[in-house]
Amino acid sequence: MSPECSHQLAAPLNAIKWHIENLTEARVGIERARKVLRSVYSQATQAVHLAKNFALMSNLEADHSLSSLREPLQAVNLCQLVVNLSDDFQPQGWDKKVQIGVEPEPLQSAPDVLVIKPLISQVFSNLIENAVKYSKPSSAILIEGGYISAQDVVAVTVRNHGITLRQEDAKRVFERGYRTLDAKNMYPTGTGFGLYIAKQIIEIHEGDIRCATDPLGRVVFTVTLPVRALQGKARERAPQNRAAR
Ligand SMILES: Nc1ncnc2c1ncn2[C@@H]1O[C@H](COP(=O)(O)OP(=O)(O)OP(=O)(O)O)[C@@H](O)[C@H]1O
Ligand SMILES: [Mg+2]
Repeated sequence: MSPECSHQLAAPLNAIKWHIENLTEARVGIERARKVLRSVYSQATQAVHLAKNFALMSNLEADHSLSSLREPLQAVNLCQLVVNLSDDFQPQGWDKKVQIGVEPEPLQSAPDVLVIKPLISQVFSNLIENAVKYSKPSSAILIEGGYISAQDVVAVTVRNHGITLRQEDAKRVFERGYRTLDAKNMYPTGTGFGLYIAKQIIEIHEGDIRCATDPLGRVVFTVTLPVRALQGKARERAPQNRAAR
């Protein structure tokens, strides 16, 4: 792991140590203890998120063809996946009163997509983490999507209101290490790997990822994944295990 990566990973781990020290040393009331534990949860989520990104970085750069990846394809309900991730990242939004909402329909009724679940989970984890990080206080993050039958794809959008993204930057944010000035000012640490990894993963799945700004000035990331295109192209998880998704 590069010094840059270990430095990033050390930050949430040190924060967890500091919070736990706080809990053990002082006479802490129940409300304060709850708040500290929420921060511990949020920092632990961040540490896991970063560790997964760093592991993926080296794997994807070594070889990124679908059939070379060890994980099997499995049928995944994207609505369920983003609801679970939103619950995980919500504690990070509480400090600045940022609420993450998932619009269940029509995404819930969309067909499952055939994907490598831990990889696709990391894509949405990167998008939701960015949305929380770059949102302005007291704003809302909205996740929605649905099935587009003409292309046999499921599209999911993650929309947030915060730092702006100029058109020329929107083209470059998927480059390895690219960060806008506003992002650097807001969060000086940050590797600029998240969206690069997301794009690699989406390309492996023959999908698409792009970003734009909507008429209200919100930044919108759209991920499109094929429903059936990958069938027969890689090992699939045995059907009897599909129920446990
Ligand atoms: N929701 C967003 N709103 C505005 N700008 C964004 C948003 N998400 C990403 N960006 C821009 O895209 C850049 C690249 O994002 P990426 O996730 O790759 O890296 P990072 O968030 O800067 O660092 P890391 O994810 O490695 O901690 C960001 O630095 C920021 O400039
Ligand atoms: Mg990021």
